[in-house]
Amino acid sequence: MPLALIIGASRGIGLELVRQYRAEGWEVIGTARDAQGLGRLRALGAEALQLDVTAAQAPEQIERMLDARALGVAILNAGIYGPRSQALEPPDESAFVEVMRTNVLPAMRIAPRLLAALERGKGKLAVLSSRMGAIGPRTGTAGWLYRASKAALNSVLKDVSLVAGARGISCVAFHPGWVKTDMGGTGADVEVEASVTGIRRTLGAVGASQNGTFLSYDGSAIPW
Ligand SMILES: NC(=O)c1ccc[n+]([C@@H]2O[C@H](COP(=O)([O-])OP(=O)(O)OC[C@H]3O[C@@H](n4cnc5c(N)ncnc54)[C@H](OP(=O)(O)O)[C@@H]3O)[C@@H](O)[C@H]2O)c1
Repeated sequence: MPLALIIGASRGIGLELVRQYRAEGWEVIGTARDAQGLGRLRALGAEALQLDVTAAQAPEQIERMLDARALGVAILNAGIYGPRSQALEPPDESAFVEVMRTNVLPAMRIAPRLLAALERGKGKLAVLSSRMGAIGPRTGTAGWLYRASKAALNSVLKDVSLVAGARGISCVAFHPGWVKTDMGGTGADVEVEASVTGIRRTLGAVGASQNGTFLSYDGSAIPW
């Protein structure tokens, strides 16, 4: 069975990704920061790795866990929203650093270190971005620090795709919809099961021609 690596899988979209890949018979490595999250992963039959994506040693921890195994899918899901600003309220420096070091830095540190295992498995790499990070279609300013972090994440994904594509690995940035999770809230319009079903279906169909693209969970393309 193929192996999926879901990074940031204690709850929400990440945990549902683990649940659905396991239900389809995949082997899954999920990561979580605390004992409760690790327990939820083990209860789903996943291998559980304790990992904070912001830790400098996170790439080595993942490499050690993977050993020489081949990856069918790697999904970098961990993310935080940060200040719930509406207009142009400047974030304080600690909020800026926390959002950027959680949403952007791990992709730059970890994604390059996944390419060998993805090459072995002819696998695909996805990051959980957000339509809020799209610059071209933007009409609102709410959460502008989060938006900036996801725009930066999209830039990182594009760069990774240029290197990975040459090695036969397709990489995409996903908008999961506005999803009913702790982050999305109860007023969101997409159930987590439906979002993850769409992400998995879309990722499964991604080919080389879609390497380096920004996709919605329903498979439609989103302008950068
Ligand atoms: N929900 C939406 O409507 C929506 C829309 C667009 C994009 N997204 C993106 O989709 C992804 C998942 O969102 P969600 O709605 O499932 O959010 P969520 O319910 O708030 O879950 C966030 C996940 O990220 C993990 N995480 C945060 N910081 C971490 C760190 N430093 N190290 C390791 N794990 C960390 C959390 O782990 P802990 O339990 O340890 O905190 C948790 O598993 C995020 O990247 C988010 O930006 C969500």
